[in-house]
Amino acid sequence: MIKIAPSILAADFTKLGGEINSVRRADYLHFDVMDGSFVPNISIGLPVLESVRKTTDMALDVHLMIASPARYTARFAEAGADIVVFHVEAETAENTRASIDELHRLGKKAGLSVKPGTAADTLLPYIESLDAVLVMTVEPGFGGQKFIEEMLPKISEIRRAADSRGLKCEIGADGGINLQTAKQCVEAGADVLVVGSDLFASADRASYIAEIRKY
Ligand code: DX5
Ligand code: ZN
Repeated sequence: MIKIAPSILAADFTKLGGEINSVRRADYLHFDVMDGSFVPNISIGLPVLESVRKTTDMALDVHLMIASPARYTARFAEAGADIVVFHVEAETAENTRASIDELHRLGKKAGLSVKPGTAADTLLPYIESLDAVLVMTVEPGFGGQKFIEEMLPKISEIRRAADSRGLKCEIGADGGINLQTAKQCVEAGADVLVVGSDLFASADRASYIAEIRKY
């Protein structure tokens, strides 16, 4: 079944508890962390994650768009993340492996994300140890951007790499997802869809989530 991960970057932060409640029937809550260095924007971090952890039982999917993320992966795990995803472009191979192992030792899931300009091959050395791969379908940094269709073959390539090795690794698409692009991603092989602005703009978020799940 397709999983949906609402991105709270698109939520109204003045009423975050209610916003989270409105998407509680989704599978994961996607939590975008930006540092103004790896990406040209700054969002939310550890104190907000701790508060969110107290208010929901949803699985928290933390997407670190920060430089040298290995410094922080365990901190986010301890603050309540269930899944910690960081960017393959942002770390050395040695630190990447160490962070994945550390997350597993902490009982958490580990994922790697790739920017639009990064080839799928970059992930392959790690794929056997990953619980999740997140393919960016926009340049990371901002919600509300247009889906980059050229990323669909990358999703398919990673899907083939995972399936041919018999791996259970989930493959997500993040950025510019709406009811139409969601379908394209699922057809390409994605099984997790991160949705921000289109979902939060919808009057009936529960129906939107139910609709995407049918894909
Ligand atoms: C972009 C973030 C996304 C973003 C998605 O850098 O990683 O998770 O919130 O938002 P939409 O769905 O609006 O593209
Ligand atoms: Zn994200």
